[in-house]
Amino acid sequence: MKEDKASSTAYTVVQGILHTKNNPQLSHLIEEETINSYTKILSSTFEGLKRLEELHSPIKNKKLPFLEWLLMPGITLNYVLRKKFIEENVLNAIKNDTTQIINIGAGFDTLAWRLSLQFPSLNFIEIDHPATNQEKTKAINKTSTISSNLYFIPADLSKISLEKALKGCQGFQKKQKTLYICEGVLMYLDEIHVIGLFDSLRNLTGKDSLFIFSCIEPKESDKNNIRTLLYTYLKFKNERYLWYIRDTQIASFIKKNNYTLIDMADSESYRKNYLPSTYNGTLHKGEYVVVAKVD
Ligand SMILES: C[S@@+](CC[C@H](N)C(=O)[O-])C[C@H]1O[C@@H](n2cnc3c(N)ncnc32)[C@H](O)[C@@H]1O
Repeated sequence: MKEDKASSTAYTVVQGILHTKNNPQLSHLIEEETINSYTKILSSTFEGLKRLEELHSPIKNKKLPFLEWLLMPGITLNYVLRKKFIEENVLNAIKNDTTQIINIGAGFDTLAWRLSLQFPSLNFIEIDHPATNQEKTKAINKTSTISSNLYFIPADLSKISLEKALKGCQGFQKKQKTLYICEGVLMYLDEIHVIGLFDSLRNLTGKDSLFIFSCIEPKESDKNNIRTLLYTYLKFKNERYLWYIRDTQIASFIKKNNYTLIDMADSESYRKNYLPSTYNGTLHKGEYVVVAKVD
């Protein structure tokens, strides 16, 4: 991460979602309310406006599909599908008495913002690198007031533990049934910080806490359709991947860290559950979203 600059990939995720909304075969996957919340965020920052302009320009809007084809085929649709899977699991957890949702490395995701308005009695916390956090809170403050059940914590998780970051937040309630989300983030942390995060969640809110996270196959895996050029691109952006895990190793990895695997989603399950049978576009391969529970 560049210390003083909001995450470029966090912007790319939002831009990809807005781009997908323009595809008539896929637009039903994204609610209008979600689009409005993302548009509000992008409209409020300099980089966001640039990204919106790219989407609306007949020439510049070719850049995103070109970069996608060049670096990570199918990735923009993957952002939409993984968020759909995560949102379904969060709503399901809320139905089953989860009262606190904590999004780690939230980027410009709007789930906590939207749900904090829909569920005023629940607690929502977002943690992100200070540069991204600052840009996001500025953007939300410009468009609406932040409700009193939504908290933002600036923290660089490669420098400070999650435990320390959360214990300093007045909104954090140790005794509440908690679900943590860590989407598109663990691959940017060293394994030691990934394991530290698993430990922190367990220590913070204990047994039955839920953890939804995404992870990726190693570079050399044949289950992954990432192009080699992406790794050079990320190096240039200073957002290198540091942690990988094979899908076959996830269950044992989380068991070793005292969690139980509840569910796992990948491009094939997304295809089955969310896409029309006629859809024949490329799907991103090599990223999994895992739902796990603290033992
Ligand atoms: C690819 S973006 C994903 C954003 C969001 N979770 C999503 O999926 O829409 C990666 C996020 O991880 C955050 N991140 C990366 N390294 C971090 C660190 N060391 N500490 C805190 N956040 C970090 C970035 O600021 C960014 O928001």
